[in-house]
Amino acid sequence: MSKNIVVAVCGGIAVYKTVDLVSRLKKKGHNVYVMMTKSACEFVTPLTFQTMSQNEVVTDMFAPVSNWEVEHISLATKADVMLVCPATANIIGKIASGIADDFVTTTIMATKAPKVICPAMNNNMYDNVVVQRNLSKLKNDGCYIVEPGEGFLACGTVGKGRLTELENIEDAIEEALCTDKDLLGKRVLVTAGPTREAIDPVRYITNHSSGKMGYEIAKRARIRGAEVTLVSGQVSLRPFSGINIIPVTSAQDMYNAVINEYDHSDIVIKAAAVADFTPKDKSEHKIKKSDSMSLELTKNPDILMNLGEKKAHQVLVGFCMETKELMENARKKLAKKNLDFIVANNLNTKGAGFGTDTNVVTIIDKLGNEQSLDIMSKGDVADIVLDKALEFIRK
Ligand code: CTP
Repeated sequence: MSKNIVVAVCGGIAVYKTVDLVSRLKKKGHNVYVMMTKSACEFVTPLTFQTMSQNEVVTDMFAPVSNWEVEHISLATKADVMLVCPATANIIGKIASGIADDFVTTTIMATKAPKVICPAMNNNMYDNVVVQRNLSKLKNDGCYIVEPGEGFLACGTVGKGRLTELENIEDAIEEALCTDKDLLGKRVLVTAGPTREAIDPVRYITNHSSGKMGYEIAKRARIRGAEVTLVSGQVSLRPFSGINIIPVTSAQDMYNAVINEYDHSDIVIKAAAVADFTPKDKSEHKIKKSDSMSLELTKNPDILMNLGEKKAHQVLVGFCMETKELMENARKKLAKKNLDFIVANNLNTKGAGFGTDTNVVTIIDKLGNEQSLDIMSKGDVADIVLDKALEFIRK
């Protein structure tokens, strides 16, 4: 959904990255309004931001007004999120101390929108106790602080201070845009992706799971305020910022990781596609070619079944993918694994299945309710699954 993002651009070399960020936010469909401090204008001209944002850029508190709204109040009220990027030591100090002496700082002072602050500066400045104190102040005041990255800095030194990757800033904006933190204080454990079962050091057995469904659940849970742990098989997805990620390879690895996390989890959602079998003997060396070969498989632990047996306070959610008799199989798994509810989908349904951005699911709960949903994005399915898990927590 399109939102109003007001970007306060301050004077630092990372300004050039903010240009790209504004372009990305526009491509996502947001309305972007840029205001620049005087020093920011030394690095990039307002025309650049005006072109990227397709909106007038404000730089001067006392410039002749183009409309009769008081501009710093108008931007402050319009903002769904106030982004400060790059945030210099100077602006961080000003915001933390309540100083409002130019257009940018007065607008920040006047807004009630959540603030996302992206520090970028020399590493010694960033480490300075005053800057750190100001950042903790802002954090305590409810600002989202997007930590800088480490590496080579424009001033020639190496350390922590460079503007973080733009994806992390986009994640923080998404988090800030969600004002209903209904999962705050909840610990959510999610599994995602396929497992890999080694045959020899070169080969393995796996399945087509992309991990997208589980990653969307982890992301939505994080945005809604949960503390999220994601036990993930090998996938090519970037986890959402702020998620505790535990990478695993085999079903046994996944079992060990999940059991470790289980006791202190409130909601457990098992979206992973776990291999049911693993080669009985894993060859230490590469198996050489021969005319024929057979592989003996042995059963992997059923992780979800184990969790069902140990279940105490947790809300336990399973997934079920079938190619036939979906509902019958899903109902059986729901009961057998002692789940609160199961999310079932048929691989052959258009818009469902591996690697897609959409899903078509039916949710069956232990009370006998069955809810069939239309095709929707995996993000929307994730939200519905989390809503339902919350309902069970409250019961
Ligand atoms: N699951 C698990 N451990 C396994 C197999 C499955 O934790 N060894 C979990 C999956 O993560 C999923 C649910 O159990 O949440 C159902 O998985 P699915 O593969 O559909 O069913 P299975 O129980 O493996 O039964 P079958 O393969 O016979 O359909």
